[in-house]
This record gives sequence, C-alpha cells and structure tokens, in this order.
Amino acid sequence: MTVCEYRAGLEGVPATQSNISFVDGQKGILEYRGIPIEELAEKSTFLETTYLLIWGELPNKDELEAFEHEIRYHRRLKFRIRDMMKCFPESGHPMDALQASAAALGLFYSRRALDDPAYIRAAVVRLLAKIPTMVAAFQLIRKGNDPVQPRDDLGYAGNFLYMLSEREPDALAARIFDVCLTLHAEHTINASTFSAMVTASTLTDPYAVIASAVGTLAGPLHGGANEEVIDMLEQIGSVENVRPYLDDCLQRKSKIMGFGHRVYKVKDPRATILQNLAEKLFEKFGRDNYYDIAIAMEQAVEEKLGHKGIYPNVDFYSGLVYRKLGIPTDLFTPVFAIARVAGWLAHWKEQLAENRIFRPTQIYTGLHAIPYTPITERRETLVD
Ligand code: ACO
Repeated sequence: MTVCEYRAGLEGVPATQSNISFVDGQKGILEYRGIPIEELAEKSTFLETTYLLIWGELPNKDELEAFEHEIRYHRRLKFRIRDMMKCFPESGHPMDALQASAAALGLFYSRRALDDPAYIRAAVVRLLAKIPTMVAAFQLIRKGNDPVQPRDDLGYAGNFLYMLSEREPDALAARIFDVCLTLHAEHTINASTFSAMVTASTLTDPYAVIASAVGTLAGPLHGGANEEVIDMLEQIGSVENVRPYLDDCLQRKSKIMGFGHRVYKVKDPRATILQNLAEKLFEKFGRDNYYDIAIAMEQAVEEKLGHKGIYPNVDFYSGLVYRKLGIPTDLFTPVFAIARVAGWLAHWKEQLAENRIFRPTQIYTGLHAIPYTPITERRETLVD
C-alpha cells in the first residue's frame, strides 16, 4: 500500500470517485451531472434538479410528475412526530431539532432493505418530503402554535414558505426560494456530505445518514456561516463602518464570515447568482441597508484578501435573500439542510452502489509501552 503524506483537513485527498457534481475552484465552475449550475438555476426546479442528482439524468415529463406527486403525498408528519417535537425545548437551535427529528424517522420507518430500489426511492421521497415540514413545524411549535398542514396545491418551495408564515406565498418569492434550494442542493465532498458518506458506508439506515449530515452542516465553518454573516452585517451597521470593522478582524486574525472556501479561489458562482436574486427581491420588496453594507464589504475584502483567493462564498448572499423572504436567521442553516438533503441522498445512493466502509488511517503521535500508574501515585490536582 502507498503511504500518503498527512494533509490537515484532508485537503486535496480524494475520498471517493463520484459523477454527481464537479467544481473547478480556479475558474468558478459548478456542475451537477455535467450541467452548469447557471443553467439549472435559470431553467430547472429544485425537485427536477434533485431527480437529476439522485437518478443521474433529467426526468421526462411523466417521471417528474410522478416524483412531484409522491413528494406531495408524503409531506405530512405522523402526529407522534409532531408530539415528539412539541417536547423539544423552544430555546433549542432549529438545527438540533432537525437532527433529532430526522434521526427519529428511523424509529417510525424501521425497515431496512438497502438493496431494494423501491426502498431507496421510498426513503428518498420520505426525507425530501418531510424535512421541510419538520423545519416549519418546529418554527411554529416554538412560538407556541400548532404546526400547519402542508398544502397540496402549492409547489415544494411555495408550500414551505406557506408552512412557515401561514400566509399565501408570493410567486416571485417562491420561485426565488426554489432557485436558492437548487443552488444549495449539492457541492461535491464537503464536510456534511463526507459525514453522510461515512455513515452510509456502515450500511445503517438513511435517516441516520441524513441526521449525521445535518449535525455536521450545523457548524459555523460550514452551513452555519450564513447566520453569522447576518450577525456580522448587523454589527457593522453602516457602510462607513465596513473598513474599520474589516481592519479590526484582520488585526485580530479572525475569519470574515461568508468569505473564503477550501475549493473556490474566485467568487463562488452560487454567490453571483444569489446576489442577482437578492437584487430582484429588493426591486420588488424594497432595498435593504444590509445589502449596501454587503456590497461594500465584498469590495473591501477583495482589495485586502483577493490575493489570497478569498472571495464571497455561497453563504455571503444567501442570508440576505432568506432575510428578505422573511425566514428567521436561525432557520438559515435548516433551510440549507432542506436543499442539501438532495446531494446527501445522491451520495448515499452512489455510496451503496459500490460500498466499502470508510476506515482511514492515522499517524500516531503518542507514546508507547508506558507502565500503568496506580491512582494513589498520580499527580495531585492543582486548586486555584
Ligand atoms: N477571512 C479572513 N481570512 C481568511 C478567510 C476569511 N473568511 N478564509 C480564509 N482566510 C485566510 C486564512 O487566514 C489563511 O491565511 P494564511 O494562509 O495567511 O494563514 C488562508 O486564507 C487559508 O485559510 P484556511 O482557513 O486554511 O482555509 P480552509 O480551506 O481551511 O478554510 C473555510 C475554508 C473554512 C471556508 C474558511 O475560508 C472560513 O473559515 N471561512 C469563513 C466561514 C465561512 O464562510 N464558511 C462557509 C464556507 S461555504 C460552506 O460551507 C457552505
């Protein structure tokens, strides 16, 4: 076996072979099954794109209609799942609520038949259908309200906005939200997808796979960054304060949220599309001071850090769009999860097709053959 050099964070180390998506971080290219993200954002829908990611090609009209119908039919939650969610602390983070609820699906749908295509399809449909309902349900429950039932006359994105706000969704808002889901659906072997694949490789159930990925996405260096971007823009407060804020961050060597990416060394193509979507929303619903701050921030960061390849990533503009859509800040990452379920499931299915359990190695840096010290002879506890 070849002995590999250790790379912190596995940077540049291939963890799998995949034909689901492709990123060129130097040229700013992202493709799903070979189709550029710009094409999909303009011409496709989230569910159609999801079908493409999971089954490898765009569905024909009948296939798409059947898929959409199945998802519509499975959106509701069992009353026991809703009751379980009512017991969650209302101050808990919605990502924790989502992780627990996704894992709980394994209790309610415990059959496991990973070599049965019908089982795979049922799990895919169930997860895609129920995760948005879970996110919306927790939002209403923590406000002291009963969750609303999904509406069969609404599309995937519009129905989610409806379940969250209990109001008729605006058509432009629903379309823009659908595009946001498409943009976040898949992104090669990022931390949460890797987590999903490691879990999948043990041949556990798909609900455990998605729950582990949700837990990984929650961290501030991954999906959690979009929340922190809004906190940062709030702290900056005005365009004039952008440069002093940035200088202070750089002096303290703290990371600027929404900037930088392990793979992209130019502006993330999804950030460009999201910025355009934000502008469309501002045109219809009024411009936002945060957007002016964001533009000034992008310019200032480019001047100071562009030479290091630090540009806006997907999280920089997604928060602005979600905020304008009326989505509460701490639901930004759960909304990211709603979209990324598509990619996680695509990788789950790909992993199962040629599975080998993940079991990397390590470089041991500890000691050897140390004699056991009886407890009475160990060092004393230091008291301040
Ligand atoms: N602000 C300031 N400097 C940065 C930033 C940033 N956001 N990101 C990277 N750098 C600098 C680092 O300080 C480092 O500089 P140095 O070489 O002089 O020490 C260099 O760029 C490389 O940075 P690393 O942290 O080694 O890059 P890595 O690939 O490990 O991290 C990451 C990528 C985690 C995304 C990082 O850029 C970051 O923390 N960004 C902010 C958080 C964020 O927006 N996360 C969302 C990412 S997108 C997603 O997950 C959906």
